[in-house]
Amino acid sequence: MQLDRFALDYDSARIGDSLIVHADCLEWLGQIPENSLHAIVTDPPYGVKEYEFDQLEKRANGSGGIWRIPPSFDGHVRAPLPRFTALNPKERAQLGRFFVEWAKVAVHALRPGGHVFIACNAFLSQVVFSSLVEGGLEFRGQLVRLVRTLRGGDRPKNAEEDFPGVSSLPRGGYEPWGLLRKPMPEGMKVSDCLRTHGTGGLRRTPEDRPFSDVIWSERTPKRERDIADHPSLKPQSFLRQIVHAALPLGEGLIADPFMGSGSTVGAAEAVHIPCIGVERNVEYYEMAKKAVAKFASLSIERDPRPLRFVKPEPCKSSSPSSCHIRCA
Ligand SMILES: C[S@@+](CC[C@H](N)C(=O)[O-])C[C@H]1O[C@@H](n2cnc3c(N)ncnc32)[C@H](O)[C@@H]1O
Repeated sequence: MQLDRFALDYDSARIGDSLIVHADCLEWLGQIPENSLHAIVTDPPYGVKEYEFDQLEKRANGSGGIWRIPPSFDGHVRAPLPRFTALNPKERAQLGRFFVEWAKVAVHALRPGGHVFIACNAFLSQVVFSSLVEGGLEFRGQLVRLVRTLRGGDRPKNAEEDFPGVSSLPRGGYEPWGLLRKPMPEGMKVSDCLRTHGTGGLRRTPEDRPFSDVIWSERTPKRERDIADHPSLKPQSFLRQIVHAALPLGEGLIADPFMGSGSTVGAAEAVHIPCIGVERNVEYYEMAKKAVAKFASLSIERDPRPLRFVKPEPCKSSSPSSCHIRCA
């Protein structure tokens, strides 16, 4: 595939079948030819501002800003996490405007029927997904990445002893990923979209199961964190499943416009899908140059736990009509 033309005038590097570009993705997506991407798989800065240079500086100094060290309950010091509850209404509105604009350029770059898989978090997904729809994408649902996170679960701040039985927010057990699509031309069926554009549907798994919207996952393993020290590194075991699903016919071009250290590009390389990664921060762009081939060469076991739908047991309550757990 002729990927070099997607470098435009930006600094770029070829890695295997992929291309990485040092650019602002709003500019890049707006400038590449219309209808050129089959899908986007990406993990944006959910709160927009956590990857601003001043916030990264505060993170490095360990003082103030949006990044917070989670409480240490087992003696281990945790890496800082962005605290999205700290966004005020003005910042949430700014976040919304950012994703409206981002969706407009994504619509320009995608082929009709091309999917967007976009990482989010439970606290901000309502703002992010509705803004993406306002920008022109069609909402197709969400993926649930089942993963124990360190978010939420705390007792009310500075009143822990007064309210020992209360958590302000649930302890996070999943990460929502938005699933959106560039609308197909009016009246076009998925089968016609597949024939015309190679898009519109999702690829079944290598075991010939339908792609599922709940995926067992894990925290990013140490051997991957040793490859790239990026604050938001996603695991290969999850990303490889997503990039595989993104191209319904197994052919075409995908992009990760918020590439970070190149984990999506590495996952795409591993499953032989051409991918373009775009990153604005030069430090992370240089990190990706070294990391992509290493991510791609990792041998990853496929998840041995296919999702099963369990038939509920018959109700054993002595008064089934008042049982709200199984009989509701
Ligand atoms: C959440 S991180 C992605 C991390 C990635 N999933 C990984 O595993 O390394 C988001 C990345 O987007 C980058 N970024 C933020 N705004 C951008 C923009 N306008 N254009 C391109 N990259 C941007 C940040 O520097 C950051 O590295």
